[in-house]
Amino acid sequence: MASTETKLRKEIQKPVSHSGSKVTIVGAGQVGMVVAFSIITQNIASELTLLGVTEDKLKGEMMDLQHGLAFLNNIRITAGTDYALSAGSKLCILTAGARQREGESRLDLVQRNADIFKSVIPKLVHHSPDTILLVVSNPVDLLTYVAWKLSGLPKERVIGSGTNVDSSRFRFLLSERFNLAPISIHGWIIGEHGDSSVPVWSGVNVAGVRLRDLYPAAGTSADMENWNDIHRQVVQSAYEIIRLKGYTSWAIGLSVSILAVAILKNTRNVFAVSTFVQVYRISHISLVVDIYECIIILLREHTGLNILFSFPSLAFLVKTA
Ligand code: NAI
Ligand code: 2OP
Repeated sequence: MASTETKLRKEIQKPVSHSGSKVTIVGAGQVGMVVAFSIITQNIASELTLLGVTEDKLKGEMMDLQHGLAFLNNIRITAGTDYALSAGSKLCILTAGARQREGESRLDLVQRNADIFKSVIPKLVHHSPDTILLVVSNPVDLLTYVAWKLSGLPKERVIGSGTNVDSSRFRFLLSERFNLAPISIHGWIIGEHGDSSVPVWSGVNVAGVRLRDLYPAAGTSADMENWNDIHRQVVQSAYEIIRLKGYTSWAIGLSVSILAVAILKNTRNVFAVSTFVQVYRISHISLVVDIYECIIILLREHTGLNILFSFPSLAFLVKTA
């Protein structure tokens, strides 16, 4: 006798094991869960898997998200500690690991988080050999390099969240000064995410009007209007938020979900992310800014992805070249 369920719905073919836009998030902490929530609300993935180390926490987060699906477009959500759950992911986002405590720098986390990556990356790539890895854990530029090395994937398929969030902080702070919406302010922070990031003052513009055309000294040592203070605030932001609430999560979560949209939907947006760039004999930072355009063009030619890459890992490379 047919069950009530089969009276309503008859399966005519076995469902496919996974869909084309599956996303896995490793690390269901503060950052991972904002990324998960933003991805679900943006309707870009057909399947979302949360991986971590604590079954109860993962199950709780999964159930809580699932119970909100009646208000959103449907998405299959799974969670657990078994990496087989991630099989067939188009995108794997890494938010696992230690975060800074008050007074710690991002670089202080490198050993702990590299050790975590050693156990995580091979399992991810084993189950999803065609995946793109998007690293968020800190220090993000170094860990993107570590992830690339551990994964054996082509460099175009391993990127980090880079200075995308630094750039959005920059645009927000500029927007406050101009009293305009952040989305209408264009400006870039490049270099290493965080303390040694570099503001591109020559690129700041509002509706095509360059700040430097209005005030040529902006961001230079002759700047009497203190625009550089905005970059100082960008660098200090994370430390201040960590002092106030213990961690940062909303801005980074949103910035990562926008990268996920760009990757999954091929939106052709431009973002500042971490990627591997071979640079020789660069000794002065102004030279770095001068070759910015060059590198963008090179990367566009060499990457399979339709997002253009800035070079957040460059600051690191400059120091070690
Ligand atoms: P959190 O402590 O809230 O979450 C970290 C999660 O990782 C925890 O759920 C933990 O169980 C999980 N985890 C630990 N070891 C694991 C392993 N071996 N396998 C799988 N999962 C594991 O930390 P939060 O605040 O979410 O930060 C996560 C990372 O993101 C930190 O490294 C933090 O510094 C970084 N971050 C990076 C930003 C960026 O702009 N790139 C911005 C904000 C945070
Ligand atoms: C951030 O900038 C802490 O890297 C983290 O929010």
